[in-house]
Amino acid sequence: MDEANTPAQPLAIRIDTPNLYLRTLTVNDASPQWLGWFGQTDIRDGLNLADAPASLAEVAAYIGKYDQRSNIILGIFDRTNDLLLGILATQVDWDKGRYLANTFVGETAYRNRGVMLEVAAPFRDYFFDTLNLKVMTATALATNEPIISYLRKTGWTLNRTLKNHTRSHKDGTMVDLHLYSITREAWHAWKAANPELLAAMRQGAMRES
Ligand SMILES: CC(C)(COP(=O)(O)OP(=O)(O)OC[C@H]1O[C@@H](n2cnc3c(N)ncnc32)[C@H](O)[C@@H]1OP(=O)(O)O)[C@@H](O)C(=O)NCCC(=O)NCCS
Repeated sequence: MDEANTPAQPLAIRIDTPNLYLRTLTVNDASPQWLGWFGQTDIRDGLNLADAPASLAEVAAYIGKYDQRSNIILGIFDRTNDLLLGILATQVDWDKGRYLANTFVGETAYRNRGVMLEVAAPFRDYFFDTLNLKVMTATALATNEPIISYLRKTGWTLNRTLKNHTRSHKDGTMVDLHLYSITREAWHAWKAANPELLAAMRQGAMRES
């Protein structure tokens, strides 16, 4: 791959939101809680991880595979107690200006409380406007209702569905894979068209579950 546009040094990213912050992770962020996350089939399926890390050393090795240049892993932290509660991982093609994002809220107590909605706009603004990337992509198993609902709600386009594409780690069946994208222009247009929802998302209610 032509690396002309790839950052020469690992990126150190920090993005603040009202209740949370995102920052690039290091191997020192490996902790036992990761083992619980990777024990959940929906997370393994979401990341398409057949062999999820099963020890602290493997978690550290997993984090260490992210070079923070073309493979960037950000942690989502609770500002009140610095708890790492989820992950936003991206694979960046700097030459094409494209990035594939994978995300999960690992700590179940934080799910469905607006975490993903709170980080969505600052995260996209950073990757589109600060890092100057052009297109964000994502994939979702057709069975993953929460992530599909989230993508639909926040302006993504479903470009293609690959039939019977991925073997589910849950029950071994073949599942359709949806391919989504959102361009920088589409994101800016979506923000302009949805000011109230955007303000509510940015405010970040962190509602009680
Ligand atoms: C899917 C996930 C990333 C959403 O993050 P979250 O912080 O829990 O989501 P939010 O509370 O910010 O909600 C954002 C939107 O996601 C969708 N959503 C979240 N949880 C949902 C659920 N259980 N069922 C249906 N839709 C859901 C909704 O559209 C929601 O908007 P709404 O609250 O206005 O209806 C997170 O719950 C998660 O990681 N779940 C389990 C693992 C997984 O499936 N990860 C995805 C693949 S790796």
